[in-house]
Amino acid sequence: MAARTTPPATYPARVQPGADAAPVRRAVAQRNAIALTDLTPNNLGQLRMLNAKLFPIAYSEQVYRDVLAEEVRPVCKLGLYNDIPVGNVCCRVEEGKDVAHCKVYIMTLGVLPAYRHLGLGSAMLRHVLEQAPTGGKYDDGRKVEAVYLHVHTANEAAKQFYEQFGFQVTETVPDYFKTLEPRSAWLLEKRA
Ligand SMILES: CC(C)(COP(=O)(O)OP(=O)(O)OC[C@H]1O[C@@H](n2cnc3c(N)ncnc32)[C@H](O)[C@@H]1OP(=O)(O)O)[C@@H](O)C(=O)NCCC(=O)NCCS
Repeated sequence: MAARTTPPATYPARVQPGADAAPVRRAVAQRNAIALTDLTPNNLGQLRMLNAKLFPIAYSEQVYRDVLAEEVRPVCKLGLYNDIPVGNVCCRVEEGKDVAHCKVYIMTLGVLPAYRHLGLGSAMLRHVLEQAPTGGKYDDGRKVEAVYLHVHTANEAAKQFYEQFGFQVTETVPDYFKTLEPRSAWLLEKRA
């Protein structure tokens, strides 16, 4: 999660999977269609609304311009559940140790609470790891050194989620967030 300044909020506690953890599961039991779609100028407003609900920090206009760049199209997606946009993953692609390498930074990955535990979060992260396989090649031919992100240290659930995909905490950054308490963030990395 990229650091920005806005009022703090809390993260939802871990809930047990099942009907209560995902109320939508009962209402739409007949269909369980997860899909990812490209970000476009037409659905950018939906991305903004999702992020306002999902994260305790606000993202700058520059972030919303950057996610439409061709370079990041493979790793910036809206997540749909039965055609409804309920989640997103947005990454930026950074320079690696030389021109032949890059790193992928996950800025946002989230799913609206009512649609959690249905597999969408995993589908989005799996997609990023397929498009940017550590040790493999990104869309532009550069070798991917690492996929990484910052997670607020109050967000144990997100840490566990990423660890299931082979991410490891490599550092705790004490003053990463200026307006959240605690201010610290875990640096979670998946390396080749
Ligand atoms: C983390 C998050 C993206 C997971 O999304 P999701 O759609 O519920 O993920 P999935 O349904 O694919 O869950 C896959 C597995 O991850 C683990 N997991 C998911 N949420 C978890 C939680 N809150 N606590 C512990 N493990 C969790 C579980 O093993 C889960 O399988 P289960 O549902 O059978 O228990 C979602 O909880 C979220 O949006 N959180 C708020 C935003 C956030 O913190 N993002 C991460 C920082 S960018």
